[in-house]
Formats: sequence, C-alpha cells, structure tokens
Amino acid sequence: MNDADQCSGAKSNGKGKPSTPTPNGLAQDVSNLGLQDVPKVKSKNLNVVEEFGKAKMKDAVSFVVVGHVDHGKSTLMGRLLYDLRVVDEKTVDKLRRDSKKIGKGSFALAWVMDATSDERERGVTVDIATKYFETEKTRFTILDAPGHQDFIPNMISGASQADLAVLVIDASTNSFEAGLRGQTKEHAMLVRSMGVQRLIVAVNKMDACEWSQDRFKEIQQQMTAFLASANFSSKSVSFVPCAGLTGDNVVVPVDSAKAPWYKGSTLIQELDHAEPTKRLLEKPLRMTISEVFSSSPNNPISVSGKVDAGSLQVGDKVKILPSGETAVIKSLDADGQPADWAVAGQIVVLNLALGELHLKHGDIICHEKDALKNVKEFTAKILSFEHIMPMYVDVHRGPMHAPGKIIRLVATLNKADGEVAKKRPKVIQPGVAARVVIELDEEMPLEAPNKIVLRADGRSVAAGLIE
Ligand code: GTP
Ligand code: MG
Repeated sequence: MNDADQCSGAKSNGKGKPSTPTPNGLAQDVSNLGLQDVPKVKSKNLNVVEEFGKAKMKDAVSFVVVGHVDHGKSTLMGRLLYDLRVVDEKTVDKLRRDSKKIGKGSFALAWVMDATSDERERGVTVDIATKYFETEKTRFTILDAPGHQDFIPNMISGASQADLAVLVIDASTNSFEAGLRGQTKEHAMLVRSMGVQRLIVAVNKMDACEWSQDRFKEIQQQMTAFLASANFSSKSVSFVPCAGLTGDNVVVPVDSAKAPWYKGSTLIQELDHAEPTKRLLEKPLRMTISEVFSSSPNNPISVSGKVDAGSLQVGDKVKILPSGETAVIKSLDADGQPADWAVAGQIVVLNLALGELHLKHGDIICHEKDALKNVKEFTAKILSFEHIMPMYVDVHRGPMHAPGKIIRLVATLNKADGEVAKKRPKVIQPGVAARVVIELDEEMPLEAPNKIVLRADGRSVAAGLIE
C-alpha cells in the first residue's frame, strides 16, 4: 500500500498493492483453503437499519471524474486531496521526487490517484481509483476514471457507482476541441444514460489560457448546448473554472488579480451543494464487486465495491452471482473503517470465508432469501448513440459484461413521455430512444431497472435501463 492510500484509508482500491494476487494466484490461494478450514463466524444479529439510524452518519455522495484523456482529472483530484490535507506534504514531496526521476514531473499530483507502476510510467489512468474525503456535512467518495478510449469499460464501472459526475475539460488551445471529437461527449452521454443527473463541468487548466473569461464563456456555451441535447437539465449542470496543477479555485478561491471576472464557487463548494444519496435500505441486498484481492494473510479473499441496495453485517451468509456460490462475511470495512455492518451507499471491503469460489470483478453479492436471478433474454429501454439494428453487442452492467445480440427492435419511443412512437422499426437512428430485446450468449444476473451500456467494435452504441 502506498502512502497516499494510507492517508485516505482507501483500502477498497487494490491498486499498487504488490501483494494483490493474479486471478491464477488467487485460485491457488483459494484451493489451499479447504472447506474444513473455513472458520465459524458469529453474527451479532443486529437490526442494521436501526443501527444506521443511531449512528447518525454523515450524508454520502460518490462522484465519478470523467473526461477526455489528459484533461487533468487525476491531477485535479490529487490537488483536492492535497489542499484538504487528506494527503500530506511528505507524501506529495516524495511523489514529486519520484515522478521527476522518470521524467514525469508534471504528473506528481496525478500519482496521488494513479498508483500502479504501469499507470505511472505511461502517464495515463487505466482503472478506477477510489479515494475518500469529508466536508462538514458530507462524506465523499471519489471515483477517478480513465479518459483513454481503450479503458471505457472501466469508466463505465465507475460511472455505475456514482451519484454525480465531474466532467473535466482542458481549456487550453485546441484541447477542448480535441476532447469534443474524443471522449468529452461520449463520457457525458454515458454518465447521463447511467442515471447521473447532476453534472459539474470543471473547466480545467485555466492557467494555460491566462484565465481568459472569453475562453471560459466559449466552452460554457458550446457545452450547454450539447448537454441539453444529451438530456441534462440546465438546473443540474454547473460550470467551475479551475487549474488542478496550480490549485486555483479547487479548494482555495482563485486570486481576484488573476480572474477579476469570476465571483462563483470553488470546486469543493460546488461539490458540497450536492444532494445526498437516497439510501435504498429496505431493498434486498445488492452489491457489485469492483475488485477481488487479498487484504492480508488472514483474509485471502476480499472483495470491494459499493452496496447498491439493502444492508449487510458480519456473519451474513451471502450468495454470489452468476455462479450461485455462497460465502460468509468474516469481517468488513465500510468507507475505509472497520465495521460490523454496512448499508446502501457505502463503499465496502468484505473479507469472505468460503470453501471454494470463482469470484470475479463484476459479480453480484446478495442474500440467499431474495437473490437476483440469471437471465438469458431481456427487454431494455435504450438511448442510441449510433445506428442500431439487429446486431451483435457487448452488454455492460457495471463492471460485468457479456456478449449477446439485439434480436428485436420492438419500437422507437418519444423521449419526453416514453410512449411508443413507431412499432417494429428497421433501424434506430442515433439519438433516438427505443425498446429492444436482447439475447445473451450466456446467462447474466440482471433485474429492472439495472443500467446497461451496449458496445460494438470498441464503441458505445447505446445505453439504457432493463425493463
Ligand atoms: P487520464 O486519466 O489518463 O485520462 O488523464 P487525466 O485526465 O487524469 O490527466 P492527468 O491528471 O494525468 O494530467 C495530464 C497532464 O496534464 C499532466 O502533464 C498534468 O501536469 C497536466 N495538467 C493537469 N492539470 C493541469 C492544469 O491545471 N494546468 C496545466 N497547465 N496542466 C495541467
Ligand atoms: Mg487520470
């Protein structure tokens, strides 16, 4: 674990842990753990909903940081954590020295988030990094996503856990324009179709355009028009000019000598206005595994992820889908702290005791009594990004994905009220809402209203909800 991880208590992110086993190593570890070795775990039989009420927890908000490659997402988050003193001076000094040594000095703050040697050498984020920080009223989870188009599946996995999104845009000459042709629009459309309504557009690298008000306005105007067409309500979108590298207007307001025209919020103030997550406490337990790793020799099998719905506690017997195998929760961390229980909205690490398993990234944990079902065929309401016809697609649900095909175009729908516009269309044009039937090559655990993304030939072609 690196220093930055220790500071933030972000145990759910196994990045940079040399001890994290490969999938094969894990299988080896697991096969060494015979059924007879599984320790008995006592449940305290807590009423978790009551415990949650007594705990008077802060509001919880998870946000995903998206945008075109290199627009400064990780640097901005590194800066935020540094200026909030979640990451200390000593850690950042070391990152500055180490990054300089390999000629990547400008990435020192990004390295707070980018912890693997691969990411550091290449200077790009590959997988979601999870970090935590608190303000007076809210406990925030940062999900820093990769911008590179090769890693969109990882970005989708982050977006599926988010309540709001920060879309980072590089304001410097030509960069904003390059982003529009690249992932700026694709990421915005994806987060919107994953149900994210609230968007903060961080107009970043303002130092590189001398804090030009004209440039800020130009970006704001173009993006406002595009976001309205992508179904974002103008009330839910705000724009904040900032510079992660220099730290202007992230936590500390920008100097009025630099930007006399700007009187609005800093990025942290804008985040603090966020509506807290509605916790679906009374629903059946659903948790999507975002990572499988070994947290210690005593805990060879740990999983991390967000509790999407319901609650869980130490001692609970859980079922894992799609395999249907069962396990017992030996111990757990909730939002980076050891805990007896956890509820919807929290990001957790579960240390599992089980006889044999084939766990993987994207699997879903539930209780046996109200477990999710595997399905082979389903209907979905989608918004198309490209032309859609009966075709092969990869179906993504959070980090899980499986090949399948669109077997029927049932109808196109009016975007405003969801009513049928045209039955049995031959093709669905880009930007049109539609109902389609999809058949999977293999069963996948799905239920309404899970959010899905359909991809073909390395591009996102549509996104929507299971009906
Ligand atoms: P991916 O995760 O790979 O998509 O990249 P990213 O968006 O996280 O960008 P990252 O933070 O890795 O920064 C990319 C480059 O932009 C680095 O060289 C940073 O130093 C530079 N950069 C980031 N923020 C700023 C800024 O505010 N001003 C200037 N001038 N450069 C910045
Ligand atoms: Mg990054």
